[in-house]
Amino acid sequence: MTSSVSGIGKVLITGGTSGLGLRLAKHFLEKGYDVVATGRKTITLNGYSARFNLIRTDFSNMARTAEAIKKACEDHQFNIIINNAGILSPPDIKLTDDGFEYTFQVNFLSHLMLNEIIIRNSEPGRPLMIASIVSPVYRLAEKNLAVYPIKSDYSPIKAYSSSKLCLALMCSYLHTKYPEPGFRCISFDPGTFSSEIYRMQKEWFRQLYRIAAPFMRSAGKVASRFGEVLNREDLVDGAVYRSGKGKGRVPVAETNAVRIFWKECEKIIEPYVS
Ligand SMILES: NC(=O)c1ccc[n+]([C@@H]2O[C@H](COP(=O)([O-])OP(=O)(O)OC[C@H]3O[C@@H](n4cnc5c(N)ncnc54)[C@H](OP(=O)(O)O)[C@@H]3O)[C@@H](O)[C@H]2O)c1
Repeated sequence: MTSSVSGIGKVLITGGTSGLGLRLAKHFLEKGYDVVATGRKTITLNGYSARFNLIRTDFSNMARTAEAIKKACEDHQFNIIINNAGILSPPDIKLTDDGFEYTFQVNFLSHLMLNEIIIRNSEPGRPLMIASIVSPVYRLAEKNLAVYPIKSDYSPIKAYSSSKLCLALMCSYLHTKYPEPGFRCISFDPGTFSSEIYRMQKEWFRQLYRIAAPFMRSAGKVASRFGEVLNREDLVDGAVYRSGKGKGRVPVAETNAVRIFWKECEKIIEPYVS
């Protein structure tokens, strides 16, 4: 199936207030799209006030995020959703307002809920592209997905890689669940680039990151590469596209454990979605 997202339309970018999300917002505004971004802080984009909207919401609170997204659906019909908001897991376990491990909810679960709300509120037959920003480390994640990681087992790298694997798998999951012809769903692995991703890390990490940042790729370059990927004619739903050339397949089979995981996630988000 081919896709074209070069027509002018409306893009929702989660985490559009800094780093890659902010660059993506500018990229799509420059191309003529209307952009709605989510984030906790307030930003303005000079020269684009007529085509840029900000939804202020914290993904660590599902009820408030659901309310904000449902309200946005009353005002907007989206052509593209970019699941970009994310954090690098903090050194010590932190729970959300809803009692989940913080990275799991912010990077993945709230996105699943947001995507479901938008899909269910989209006009029937309207083309929709969902693209999730994952990370190279999704490949390191343990394949036995779990909704409630055991506290004593907490490790930041495990929590982060697992949240990104869940997000990558979400694309295949949603695409299978909603097999409509105009519905596309892919992931994008940006590699590493400079941003504010270190925000929940210890001071020594933040200082090291600031020293390394000038030598890292810019978020702007990654945003342009993402734009090129979205315009490919040969996109395969469920695949993870890398910032370099080529694509990788999501490395988890349809096991019973994975099916149970999706059922549990559906049960959690359903009260907020409906
Ligand atoms: N930087 C890298 O090297 C790298 C590598 C691989 C993947 N990635 C992925 O790229 C994506 C973008 O990250 P970035 O590097 O551009 O980092 P960033 O500059 O820290 O941007 C993260 C965005 O997520 C939003 N966000 C964070 N916590 C949130 C919360 N609790 N609720 C709502 N929004 C929240 C932030 O908005 P507010 O602060 O306004 O809430 C911000 O707009 C992330 O998914 C990250 O995992 C980054």
